[in-house]
Parts: sequence; C-alpha cells; structure tokens
Amino acid sequence: MNVMAEVHPFLDGKPKRMLIDGKRLEAVSGKTFESRNPATGELLANVAEGDAEDINLAVAAARRAFTGPWSKLKPAERQRLLLRLADLVEENIEEFAQLDTLDMGAPISRTRAGRQRATGMLRFYAGMATALHGETIENSLPGDYVSFTLKEPVGVVGAIIPWNGPLSASIWKIGPALATGCTVVLKPAEEAPLTPLRLAELCLEAGVPPGVVNVVPGYGETAGAALASHPDVDKVAFTGSHLTGQSIIRASAGNLKRVSLELGGKSPDIVFADADLEQAVPGSGMAVFANSGQICSAGTRLFVEHKIYDEFVGRVAAFSKTLRVGDGRDPKTQVGPLVSREQLDRVTGYLAIGRQEGARPLSGGERLTEGDMAKGYFVPPTVFAGVRDNMRIAQEEIFGPVISAIPFTDIEEVIERGNKTQFGLGSGVWTRDVGKAHKLARSIRAGSVWINCYQAMDPAVPFGGYKMSGYGRESGVQHLEEYLNTKSVWIKTD
Ligand code: NAI
Ligand code: MG
Repeated sequence: MNVMAEVHPFLDGKPKRMLIDGKRLEAVSGKTFESRNPATGELLANVAEGDAEDINLAVAAARRAFTGPWSKLKPAERQRLLLRLADLVEENIEEFAQLDTLDMGAPISRTRAGRQRATGMLRFYAGMATALHGETIENSLPGDYVSFTLKEPVGVVGAIIPWNGPLSASIWKIGPALATGCTVVLKPAEEAPLTPLRLAELCLEAGVPPGVVNVVPGYGETAGAALASHPDVDKVAFTGSHLTGQSIIRASAGNLKRVSLELGGKSPDIVFADADLEQAVPGSGMAVFANSGQICSAGTRLFVEHKIYDEFVGRVAAFSKTLRVGDGRDPKTQVGPLVSREQLDRVTGYLAIGRQEGARPLSGGERLTEGDMAKGYFVPPTVFAGVRDNMRIAQEEIFGPVISAIPFTDIEEVIERGNKTQFGLGSGVWTRDVGKAHKLARSIRAGSVWINCYQAMDPAVPFGGYKMSGYGRESGVQHLEEYLNTKSVWIKTD
C-alpha cells in the first residue's frame, strides 16, 4: 500500500483521474504527471495529464449538460445543491485543509482557517441563486410596448485557476456557475490539481448532475490553451499571471468569448507616521508573508513615511524573524515553502536582483537549506530596505515573501508614486487620520483599498483589478453578472 494513504485518504496510490461527465477518466493519451509536496519533495500522486482531446470531451459534456435540463432548473433547486455542497465541504474541511497543505505547501493553520471562507462563499452563491432577476424598463416608443430584461446563464464556462489557494479558487469559479445555471470545465494549476478533483467528487455527491462540473488537470500551454481557444466555450474565467492573461485574451478572439481576468499585482501598502504602529508592523508584514507571499494582492511595495522609516522598517524586519518557517503540516508553522522549484528559482532570482540593484536585506535574503529544509523550497520572510521606485524589485511581481520598503515624505507624493505601477489590484493605508484615509481611498487606482487592515475579504464584497491586474469582479453581486447574459424582451400590447 502507498504510504501516502496513511497521510491522506484521497492519496490512495492510484493515479488521479480527470472528472468528465460524472466519470473518472484517464487522459486520452494515457499520460500522467506528478504532484509533489513542496515541503519535502515526496510524491503525492500521479495525475491524469489532460490535453486538447480531453478538453474537447469535457466541453462536449458541459454543453450537453447545459442544453439539457440543467440551465432550466428552478433557482431554488440550484440553491439546494449549493447548500448541500457547502455542508459537504464543511464536513470534509479537515481533509481539504490537509490536501491543500500537502499539494501547495501553505501552513495548516491557514488552510484550516479557510473553512469560513469556503463555506461562506458557497452559501453566498446559494443565496444569490434565488435573488437573480431582470428588470421591467419603461420605454418611450409611441404605441404600447412592454420592455423587460431576462438574466440568462452565459453557457459553458472555462475556468483556469492558479495554485496559491486551490479550494477557494475552485469555489470562486464553480459557485457562481452553479448559482446562475452555467456549466464548467475547470483546469487546475499543474502545481496543485488535487483539491479541485476532490471538490468535483463532492459536487456529484451533493447531487450536481454529471457534466455540470468537469475537471481536467494538465499543463497551461496544452490543456489550458485548448480550453481558452475552444470554439464552444462561452466564457473564460481566469486567475493567474498577467502574461498568461494576455494569451487568454488572444485565444478568446476566435469566438469572441467573454473573459474575466484576476491577475497579479505590486500593491502599495502605505504607512503614515500617525498610524498605530503596534498594528501596522505585523499588519504590513503579514500583508506579504502570508502564504509565503504567493497572494495576488500582497502589499509588496511598503511605502513608509520618512520620519519613521528606519524605525518602522527595522521593526517589520524584527517581526519577520519571529515567524516560524517550515513544513506546512506542522501546526506551529507560519510560513510554508514556495510551491515549486520554478517559483523558488524565480524568488531567489529576485533576491539576487535586489542586492545587485543596491537594496539591503534587513532579514531573510537567502534560501534556507539547513537539514530537511534542503528537500523543500523554503525562502524566509525578507525585508529589503533602501529600495527606489525604479528598481525591478519595486516594479515586478515576485510572488514570494519579499517586502520592498520605500520612504516617502508627503501624501500627494505617495499617491503619485504608489500609482506608478502597471498593476492595480490591492493597496493598504495605515493612519489614524480619517481625512487622509478617505483621500487615499479615492486616489489609489486599485480594486481594493484596505485601511488599518490588509486582505480583508468577504463573499459579498467585490474583488478584482484596475489596469493590468485584470477586469471583471469576483465576489459580490457583480460576480454573478459575469456569468449572465442580459436579454431584452419587447411585447407590443396594442
Ligand atoms: P500562470 O498564470 O502561468 O498559471 C495560472 C494558470 O494558467 C495555471 O492553471 C496554468 O496552467 C494556466 N496557464 C498557463 N499558461 C496558459 C496558457 N497559455 N493558456 C491557458 N492557460 C494557461 O502562472 P504560474 O506559471 O503558475 O506562475 C508564474 C507567475 O505568475 C508567478 O510567479 C506569479 O508572479 C504569477 N501568478 C499570479 C497569480 C495571481 O493570483 N495573481 C497566481 C499564479 C501566478
Ligand atoms: Mg505558467
């Protein structure tokens, strides 16, 4: 028996198959790829490697399900399925937490804390399923006409997700699809395919009809690209890097499919001298170090008012040294490994670039290789001081636990410099001055502004990007609109 089965029930040693039309299938090619634990390098499972032919099968199944009874189901029936799925996710949350931790490395304290978010999202979408409605609109035509709108599901949705939060990323695509009556072909990230496969099993268990939720693991350049360009996919919902986002847009042109993009960032986090520094030190630290910095909206450009710059940055560095780095399965771990060798190389590459550019690491700065650490991809929380706006470490998304700390002198200046980035996803402001807080909230060109907090999220509050952080919103009522078409109906009544 596979040793992993003792670690996790889903890891039974058998190759993990795709889930298409309610059936567990091998890839047409018969190929598989490996899923490994980034903390230890151990093999977790071999996973079916889907490609264009498998995507064709999945899209065909999703289309059949869509044109069948599914999209005509009463909203209350879809609501019941979502509520049942939420209960199942809740009952199995420990299993999901362990699976995400094994597959992508996040600390178990973090993946367990994801319970509230995962179930809250599903229950929010369940509520929305019965709240969707068109409008009756008065028109001014001569004669008697009634005009009103219907909201209809867009159809087959191709969902392409990254690896940094597999459970919530999957729910962020499947939830709105089930609420609106769409069907889905989900392509997980090759780095973390296990949770999406397990979640699709629970969808079936909840009673979601076969073909409504299909999961095809595989690589981006093959399975992902086939999904993005598929002529029978009506919409692609993508989360990932801005470069891949651009190829998704190009691939969508063939049938002008709708696209929503939640991409990366280089978010400013601005600390004024009048802030509550007791809160701002750990708050701005964890705005980057949580999930080892592998969060799209991480506040990686830390702007600090010059009169407290040295003291504050020193305190953030001291805080970063208190964080426990290690295997995510240890409940005491606060910072786990990076997800992959590729990500390790990328982040250590930026550590070298930062030093070459003249920035000074006050903490961290090198990969950890002592003892068992050498088997995993561990980079400690790093605070770079002496960073200037034009350095690459102040402009490019690193996606690792790296803060670039930059001094500023006044509010107008920090608004201008904070906005000088191609991205616009998150942002933070730490101040006790309500006037400053309001001014910043309106001046920062980003989809979210967090004041005296960072990374607060709720299923009812929209999240998404300005500029090259993408378009479309997830969470909130707007999220459902992304999965709906508006149809206008005219009736001549005289
Ligand atoms: P990626 O954007 O390449 O991958 C995200 C998803 O897109 C994965 O499922 C991947 O298989 C798929 N994909 C890749 N190429 C594709 C293509 N041509 N067509 C369709 N789908 C495709 O991100 P990756 O390679 O995992 O990480 C690279 C960098 O991207 C990271 O270092 C980070 O800076 C950024 N990133 C940002 C994320 C965010 O949430 N903002 C999430 C993941 C990565
Ligand atoms: Mg990639």
